[in-house]
Amino acid sequence: MARKHIEPFVDRDIHFKKLELKGIPGGYNYKMLSIDEDTGACTMTVQWDAGYRQPPSVAYSDVEIFIMDGALKVGDRVWAKGGYFFVPRGVSLPAFSTEKGCFALVMYNDTEPHIVESDQDMDGAEREGLIQLATYDDMSWQMPTLFPQTATGCLLKLLHFDEKTHAMTFLYTMTPGFKQDNISYHDCAEEAYHVWGTSWMMQFGNLPTGGYFWRPAYVNHGAFASDHGILGFGRTDGDLHNHFHWNPYSNPAENADRAAARLIRQKPELNKWMWTKDHNHFDFEYAAAYTAESEDERVHIHEAMHAMGVEHDHDHDHHHHHHD
Ligand SMILES: [Fe+2]
Repeated sequence: MARKHIEPFVDRDIHFKKLELKGIPGGYNYKMLSIDEDTGACTMTVQWDAGYRQPPSVAYSDVEIFIMDGALKVGDRVWAKGGYFFVPRGVSLPAFSTEKGCFALVMYNDTEPHIVESDQDMDGAEREGLIQLATYDDMSWQMPTLFPQTATGCLLKLLHFDEKTHAMTFLYTMTPGFKQDNISYHDCAEEAYHVWGTSWMMQFGNLPTGGYFWRPAYVNHGAFASDHGILGFGRTDGDLHNHFHWNPYSNPAENADRAAARLIRQKPELNKWMWTKDHNHFDFEYAAAYTAESEDERVHIHEAMHAMGVEHDHDHDHHHHHHD
């Protein structure tokens, strides 16, 4: 998921366009929030017109749908706002339709948007990974169990957790009066959309309803505050560790160096092992999936540095010293 740093962005500032792509019926309108220009993987705000109807279909991509307004009939069940679907690639989704229209977030995680009409799963599709949740009605807010912890008043509903990568999809709130005064960054990309409400952030100002960001790893964010609270939809593409600090001027390379130095201190044996065998470590657990290429793809930091105009060299020889 290599996407550019997009922050801040507000979808209320742009108009819907008609999505005219292979297999997509008429009445599918979108606003593009972020896109991986190599694969077409993307996150969109979507408005399905009243009467929109989609046949039973599969996609060559994991697809996530989060309903924000209106209703969507999927198979026999009508899903109201708060409805969430994680549809693994190749898993057939029943015909869906909306009588009066439906406003949603739609994410294609691997390819550009498309549907292939089919009421059968593709070979190898992981149907057990299908998630369908009425997140507003059937789930309660949880205190995050992340360590170190965000400030009091940030609560989560975990919608999807990838055991292999620790990528997450979640709803989060900042309760009214929320304040967090330190600065955060993570080892993963982070994406969020404001379903409702406005929060303030030191770097990017106020983010209102319809506000969105796709933020690569190691980009500083925070302090935060929200007067009236927010409801947000968020995702990460890896393990969400809160690296907190107080230096607003550090750049992504410095932040990554600090994270690496922490790893050396906290997991010294693992760190030593990482430098053996030419950096290649065979994973007996996921033997087929792990390649040097997939590892390269996860290096977001160069994009972040380009986006922020930070001077850096493109010599990929590893320096084995990371300053904390
Ligand atoms: Fe964050």
